[in-house]
Amino acid sequence: MTLRLRGGLLGHPVDHSLSPTLHRAAGEAVGVAVDYALLDVGPGDFEATLDACRADARTCLNVTAPHKRAAWGSTAGRRTAAADRTGAVNTLWWTPAGWAGDNTDVEGFAAQLGAATPERAVVVGAGGAARAVLDVLRERGCAAVDVINRRPARAARLLDGLGLDAAGAHPLDGLAALLPAADLLVWALPPGVWEGEAEVDWSACRPGARLVHLAYGARAAPLIRAAVRAGVAAEDGLAMLAAQGLAAFARWTGLRPPSAPVVAALRAAVDAPPRAD
Ligand SMILES: NC(=O)c1ccc[n+]([C@@H]2O[C@H](COP(=O)([O-])OP(=O)(O)OC[C@H]3O[C@@H](n4cnc5c(N)ncnc54)[C@H](OP(=O)(O)O)[C@@H]3O)[C@@H](O)[C@H]2O)c1
Repeated sequence: MTLRLRGGLLGHPVDHSLSPTLHRAAGEAVGVAVDYALLDVGPGDFEATLDACRADARTCLNVTAPHKRAAWGSTAGRRTAAADRTGAVNTLWWTPAGWAGDNTDVEGFAAQLGAATPERAVVVGAGGAARAVLDVLRERGCAAVDVINRRPARAARLLDGLGLDAAGAHPLDGLAALLPAADLLVWALPPGVWEGEAEVDWSACRPGARLVHLAYGARAAPLIRAAVRAGVAAEDGLAMLAAQGLAAFARWTGLRPPSAPVVAALRAAVDAPPRAD
């Protein structure tokens, strides 16, 4: 009998999501028939959509902005440690006791980082993705972490309670002063939201510095090109995307698809020319 997965992504907007590509490729790799829907859910409609999904037996769900905190609120007592630590849920599944949740962005960023153990990291952005990044950096023993954000108070709240030896919250224009010391830079801002992005002097980075842009494909390309031109090793966040999705797939099915065909499908999708529609 063919295993079936009925899933979907709840977010706003969701129209350009690669999650259907990801989960279909994962399903093909392990013989699971995947029916995965994109559900554009406005603020205030999250709980009603969860009820509708449950009624429709669509119980393998991903959650993206702006609903990760609401998903956290819907899973009290049924969350993984990663979800509890980060205060965010991006993966839901139904249990007899209600919706349960995980934050697989944590596993995703850990996979992106590989075996690296950064000593001094700068994280640009303080949204949902930055929470997962900070959780991994803390777990890796990275002693010094600076978070740069339009609203530094939000960055300070993220750092609060992490128990890092040295941590600081700064406004966006604080980046220039922090670049020379960092061995890891994580770009956790949506591309283009900060006009200062184009002005960053990547040549100020120290030798061996690494930039991880959490966005991927063409959206991440301008920043990555600028950093590479200045000699910085820079990569997009496709490995994180694949790994967080595969971790969700494993939560739902108990199966761990190989990552290579999934990464290949995602890379083909992000490198494809834009569609006319
Ligand atoms: N590779 C992956 O698997 C993966 C997973 C998750 C996310 N991501 C990517 O990571 C990036 C961040 O996602 P997220 O979920 O963390 O987003 P988010 O929660 O919406 O965070 C938004 C961030 O952008 C800042 N921001 C928004 N508008 C701004 C503006 N006009 N000027 C300056 N800063 C502005 C916010 O600053 P304030 O706090 O001041 O509002 C905040 O730091 C996105 O590109 C997303 O696609 C990738």
